Amino acid sequence: MRNMKWLFAGVAISVCSISTAQAATPSVKARPSDAEVSARAQSLLSQMTPEEKAGQLSDYFYFGQLLPALGKPVEEAVAKGQAGALLFVTDAAAINRIQKVAVEQTRMKIPLLFGFDVIHGFHTIMPAPLGMAASWDPAIVEQAQGVAASEARAVGIHWAFAPMVDIARDARWGRIFEGAGEDTYLGSAMAVAQVHGFQGAYIGAPGHILAGPKHFAGYGAAMGGRDYDEAEISDNQLWNVYLPPFKAAIDAGAGNIMSAYMGLNGVPATGNRWLLTDVLRKKWGFKGFVVSDSGAVHSLTQHGLTANDAEAALRAFKAGGVMEMIPPTQKSDMASIPSAIAEGRATLAELDAAVQPILETKIRMGLFENPYVDVAKVDSVFNDPTHKRIAQTAAERSAVLLKNDNALLPLDRKTIKSVAVVGPLADAARDIMGSWVFSFTKPHADSILTGLRAKLGSTVRIDYSEGVRLPARLYPSPFGMLDGPPPKRPQLDETAEIAHAADLARNNDVTLMVLGEGQEMSGEMASRSSFDLPGRQQELLDAVVATGKPVVVILMGVRPLSLHDTKAAAILDIWYPGSEGASAVANLLFGDAVPGGKLPITWVRSAAQAPMTYASLISHDVANANKRYWDASNEPTYPFGYGLSYTSFAYSNLKVAQPSYALGQPVSVSVDLTNTGKRNGDEVAQLYIHQRSGTSSRPVRELKGFQRVTLKHGETRSLKFTLSPNDLRYWSDVKKDWVQDETKFDVWVGGDSKAELAGSFDVHQ
Ligand code: NOJ
Repeated sequence: MRNMKWLFAGVAISVCSISTAQAATPSVKARPSDAEVSARAQSLLSQMTPEEKAGQLSDYFYFGQLLPALGKPVEEAVAKGQAGALLFVTDAAAINRIQKVAVEQTRMKIPLLFGFDVIHGFHTIMPAPLGMAASWDPAIVEQAQGVAASEARAVGIHWAFAPMVDIARDARWGRIFEGAGEDTYLGSAMAVAQVHGFQGAYIGAPGHILAGPKHFAGYGAAMGGRDYDEAEISDNQLWNVYLPPFKAAIDAGAGNIMSAYMGLNGVPATGNRWLLTDVLRKKWGFKGFVVSDSGAVHSLTQHGLTANDAEAALRAFKAGGVMEMIPPTQKSDMASIPSAIAEGRATLAELDAAVQPILETKIRMGLFENPYVDVAKVDSVFNDPTHKRIAQTAAERSAVLLKNDNALLPLDRKTIKSVAVVGPLADAARDIMGSWVFSFTKPHADSILTGLRAKLGSTVRIDYSEGVRLPARLYPSPFGMLDGPPPKRPQLDETAEIAHAADLARNNDVTLMVLGEGQEMSGEMASRSSFDLPGRQQELLDAVVATGKPVVVILMGVRPLSLHDTKAAAILDIWYPGSEGASAVANLLFGDAVPGGKLPITWVRSAAQAPMTYASLISHDVANANKRYWDASNEPTYPFGYGLSYTSFAYSNLKVAQPSYALGQPVSVSVDLTNTGKRNGDEVAQLYIHQRSGTSSRPVRELKGFQRVTLKHGETRSLKFTLSPNDLRYWSDVKKDWVQDETKFDVWVGGDSKAELAGSFDVHQ
């Protein structure tokens, strides 16, 4: 991990902290009822000026810990009661210090909400969210976000700008990193698991934080995969594909939602009243508050929707009572709302309606009683050994085995005497953690090379070659700026090092190549136009494979990287496995853990195939569906849901309990799953349906159920799935509403989206 020193070189930072003794002893109060919360918020509102209320709608970026000069205006705004929330303060002492100003110096003494991008861990770093989705294991995902919540809460953070529940079918978009991939059903399950993990049983549960699903809505459909670009989404896609994970997150109790940057069908999401009020509040009954993405109110003018800042504020305010997230160099646009009220363009009632859910959240979070945190307790939370264990399990369960010719993996410690470890990501402790990880939360990770050394000790010789370097981005990442420039390293003669790596391969029993994309190659502002290995990694891979010795590729990143049909015998996709990734990978390679993850995205052959999903509509000329391009196959390298194991599985005996069902009746499907190999292992059994005819055409296949199960070798288990009426409904453009048709369905159960074992059933009146 880089450290931050360069950012404030020569600037002495004095953080005046509130001592432990000063931090009020938390007073434990019974959980207030909804009516009590509402009455208390209304009583506060009745005493507040319009300016103080507008302050509650202002959420400021605070870089005062990093760049004190940037912090000053924010601190002044807090002291004047002009801020309702801050983001990017991650230090307990700084949080206490600023909170004290809000609680003691402002007229209304309303505590601040502190938010942060707690995307996949805070101090202990979990796998990239896309990797966690590849576990198909909501339970471990819930635990992982529970750990993240407890660490963030320990420093005084109350609110995660997560989970990102944007469906993404185009991996050129760098933020595919943060979501659950292309599928609505899997994405909804992951959304629910994460909301539960962050929030616990209720908003304000001890050791938990508020969840803020984002980016409402459609950000994942950015044209060409270009970050922030507009999204044009048909109603069919919006209702059936993009909105359901948000609805699931809200039904799971999420207390906040973040509005997206992009234009959605010509109206930017943050100024879109249909989205933020008609759908979110009126149709779905959302009772929490909406925060804009950073600068998204301001940029309504840039979008050409509004003429100036005041109009932008009014548009967002009228669209959904939005709390404005304010980038470090901007001022609050919401501060203009009181003038709009004075001019008769908005009402006090509207302002109260916008502020009430924010105050209610602060009340539910217990901030009025316990505004501070105990600085002395932070380290013990960070160092809780269960956190590492959960991070390691999450990393092990996320890994997807893409290829394993001749059962090369797992490697046998008894027979392997020497290993070559090769590649630019082999000794890259920073990259292993992925995007949204900053040195100021003090994460620590070992590199894969270090993990292998720890695992193998002195009995196995390890030779290492970096091989080649990752190329620099054409445009530097703004996130890299937060963490400082990469350490300077002497130049590498890549041609010579490729030859050296091939020599090492020749002289060792097996070569483990860690290839892929670095930390800054996905995430925000990190879209890519190619899925080739960056830099000269393919050349390195080809040279090592050409030695004819066994090669395992350990692939880091979140994109479906193209290895150009490499002859390497084994490929293990580890995503960005997080701070315990090194030990997890060592366990997976040597059989102390068995890969059981499955792809949450279609692994396209190249970026030219993007966007692609298994759940497409059947179109004309199905027989030639995989011959649409005359110069390449339409088939992906690996289908959605795919992943191997060190053992093997067979499906049999698929039964639909009845041949036909009445509309609204649940459908029961069962199947026998057998572990036919020699090891114990996990399989993710997946159920897909297809509706043959109806009011609208439906996708060729749709995931509607999954179970990750562990089976002993030789064991057979009968798995039961229930399709609820909701699973058979869809939003039809013909009816402009949800429908369930009388029709025939096909159903498949198997280990990926190409599952062949099939059945069918009818639905009638
Ligand atoms: C912009 C990103 O789009 C959003 O996801 C994030 O939460 C905010 N910045 C705050 O960092």
